[in-house]
Amino acid sequence: SSSALSTGRTQTLLWLSQVLNAVPILLRIPGVAKKALPALKDFLYLLDNLLTEHKTTWDSAQPPRDLTDAFLAEMEKAKGNPESSFNDENLRMFISDLFMAGMVTTSTTLAWALLLMILHPDVQ
Ligand code: HEM
Repeated sequence: SSSALSTGRTQTLLWLSQVLNAVPILLRIPGVAKKALPALKDFLYLLDNLLTEHKTTWDSAQPPRDLTDAFLAEMEKAKGNPESSFNDENLRMFISDLFMAGMVTTSTTLAWALLLMILHPDVQ
């Protein structure tokens, strides 16, 4: 499932959905909403699968494997406290933020780095 997240098409559509989130009036351009919204839905579906897998394999007796495990541990501690920010909804938003912030930035940086090295073989 993570390979589906890494395709160029998915990234472009995710980037588009972020732009639309910031400038919603663009949704009035015919065809734009139809293109971007299913991609966002697919992304959240993949994300939910990853989180479900995490929850089923999480072992509170072991040190956290990653950030999601650490968040799950905080959720456990905060059980029964409605004031806490450590809940399912925030876990989903948190991980989706990190995927979105990290994917297009990193792949664009790598694409530019490769392009510049092609143009300047002396620094390869
Ligand atoms: C080459 C790759 C990356 C570039 C060029 C980049 C660029 C940036 C820039 C310019 C900001 C500041 C935005 C602003 O405050 O106006 C930012 C913030 C942030 N980036 Fe990245 N980023 C990259 C990779 C990543 C990765 C891999 C992640 C997560 C896995 C990430 C997560 C974040 C987060 C969470 C913030 C907000 C931090 C805060 O304000 O507390 N970024 N990034």
